[in-house]
Amino acid sequence: MSVPSSAIESVLIENRVFPPSDAMVKCARISGMAAYNALCAQAGGDYEGFWATLARENLAWSKPFTKTLDESNAPFYKWFEDGELNASANCLDRHMGTPVENKTAIIFEADDGAVAKVTYKELLARVGQFANALKARGVKKGDRVILYMPMTVEGVIAMQACARLGAIHSVVFGGFSAKALQERIVNIGAVAVITANVQMRGGRAMPLKAVVDEALALGGCEAVKTVLVYQRTKDACNMVAGRDLTFEQALAGQSTTCAPVPVSAEHPLFVLYTSGSTGQPKGVVHCTGGYLLWAKLTMDWTFDLKPEDVFWCTADIGWITGHTYVAYGPLAAGGTQIMFEGVPTYPDAGRFWQMIERHKCSVFYTAPTAVRSLIKASEADPKVHPKRFDLSSLRILGSVGEPINPEAWVWYYKNVGGERCPIVDTWWQTETGGHMINPLPGVTALVPGSCTLPLPGLMISIVDEMGHEMPNGSGGMLVIKRPWPSMVRTIWNDPERFKKSYFPEELGGKTYLAGDGAVRSTGEATNGADRGYFRITGRIDDVLNVSGHRMGTMEIESALAAKSDLVAEAAVVGRPDDLTGEAICAFVVLKGGRPTGDEAVRIANELRNWIAKEIGPIAKPKDIRFGDNLPKTRSGKIMRRLLRSIAKGEPITQDVSTLENPQILKQLAEKL
Ligand code: WTA
Repeated sequence: MSVPSSAIESVLIENRVFPPSDAMVKCARISGMAAYNALCAQAGGDYEGFWATLARENLAWSKPFTKTLDESNAPFYKWFEDGELNASANCLDRHMGTPVENKTAIIFEADDGAVAKVTYKELLARVGQFANALKARGVKKGDRVILYMPMTVEGVIAMQACARLGAIHSVVFGGFSAKALQERIVNIGAVAVITANVQMRGGRAMPLKAVVDEALALGGCEAVKTVLVYQRTKDACNMVAGRDLTFEQALAGQSTTCAPVPVSAEHPLFVLYTSGSTGQPKGVVHCTGGYLLWAKLTMDWTFDLKPEDVFWCTADIGWITGHTYVAYGPLAAGGTQIMFEGVPTYPDAGRFWQMIERHKCSVFYTAPTAVRSLIKASEADPKVHPKRFDLSSLRILGSVGEPINPEAWVWYYKNVGGERCPIVDTWWQTETGGHMINPLPGVTALVPGSCTLPLPGLMISIVDEMGHEMPNGSGGMLVIKRPWPSMVRTIWNDPERFKKSYFPEELGGKTYLAGDGAVRSTGEATNGADRGYFRITGRIDDVLNVSGHRMGTMEIESALAAKSDLVAEAAVVGRPDDLTGEAICAFVVLKGGRPTGDEAVRIANELRNWIAKEIGPIAKPKDIRFGDNLPKTRSGKIMRRLLRSIAKGEPITQDVSTLENPQILKQLAEKL
């Protein structure tokens, strides 16, 4: 935050420790540090036995597994492979005949405030019927289905219906462009696309089906035989005869009963594309057994979900957080969850607090970016301040997606949590499937800005480039030393890239490299209270984190380079931003020379719109700077570190004596 007083506070609060309340320790599933240590010791003593027991206790298997972990083809690890189960059966059928059957599974609040509730029994029937509709279109086990859906119950139903048939879903976030969508459809070889006519956000209808049509017309999508369209509104959309059906048409006459197809624990449940260091997004593959175990287990461990809890994860189903903590985890755990279609600032920035009050939310999980923007909004307009709402139902708060700065942490703790709710700051990634490092509500003393300790059983440490363990207080690369059940299995169609990206030879080929930098606390400032706690310092690769969304700098550079009539060369870096965590800054050399004044502004806007078309609006650079050329080393490598300093507005301390044209530093420092 740019408020001066909080900058002072930040120095004061960094080392404050917030131990768990006695009440929380008493009621939590993992109760107290001794219980946590005992679980860690169990895993340390018999790693496979530890996970095998949890997998038997937490999942319903149609065929029990006999082997827990197969490391014979490392790093292509396999978990519970000869066991069979169905993810949808574990989320729905499993609760039939129990008190959960008639419990509300989803409280859906639409963009316009309309509320609809669906019970587990109803959800099962709707998923069954949808699965039958897919089946009728020939979708079967192993087929790939793309979802391009709004945040609606229908989105979850479609995901669950795919899982029910053993079809592999791949959800593409509704903010991605037609081009990005087409690339994913082609890469995965989808046979069907599930979408809606529009999505409603902030009172506006945004087309989805039209984007699907555009994507399919780009070519290479001949395998797509079916497009199912949810009529979110009455607005008509283009329908292609023989290929496109509305949900209503597809569901007509279909039975609500559909037997779940048992699949191997290692059968892919979904593929989710995410950004990496190179231009092409990678299709992260997650498999049924290990992933689902994690979704269920972390609901219990991290959120300590109780039968009476009302859980709310604000993430979109287009991201991993929306997969694990909307579409699968809460259902596998038999919980009641809130699902929200809209945006936190519509009709005003009090929406989240109003919804917590209205639905008596008890566990609330959101991103630091949202918290920071709502701080700002409530400073500008006291009517949307959380203090104006009854938030007494809350008992646990969560944070995900990016580091939470201590100022935002303390505001969230005080104003939303009423100083009684622990904040679980969860570090994890698309690739890890679920939570990895985070406090447990009944165990961990909290320190603002620290994600604290690994979940029981996980072998996580910080190493240097040679793989040597770093002592507390020294930063290094975050690694996971042993395989865990919910880990990424491969990159779709690219096993070599999987090995290279995550299991580098330099570290022995079996250690998972997360791509984040981290440091463990010495505990000096807290009398040892946080000794060994992890603090994430940010990505160590060319991946940016903008508002909790992962973005590859190379992806944006490739998009710029593709505008070949204008752009000669471009380099993209991140710079810190008060609101979005990081902001995208692009340095561009144009073919027609360096523009100035209004022309520069016009071209910058043209480039922004171009990127929105190539990737999506979330990838639009905040800053675009033009230069006659880019600073390069003698060997021709772009000096990115220098560009980062320029983007931040820092004085240049690097050696620039080798630059051919030092004049460009001044040019590139110039804001439009
Ligand atoms: C970052 C989102 C600090 C990190 C679940 C990671 C975090 C990337 C945190 C993964 C956190 C996520 N503290 N950094 N609590 N959570 N990150 O794949 O850089 O969208 O590598 O998964 O977000 O982003 P992804």
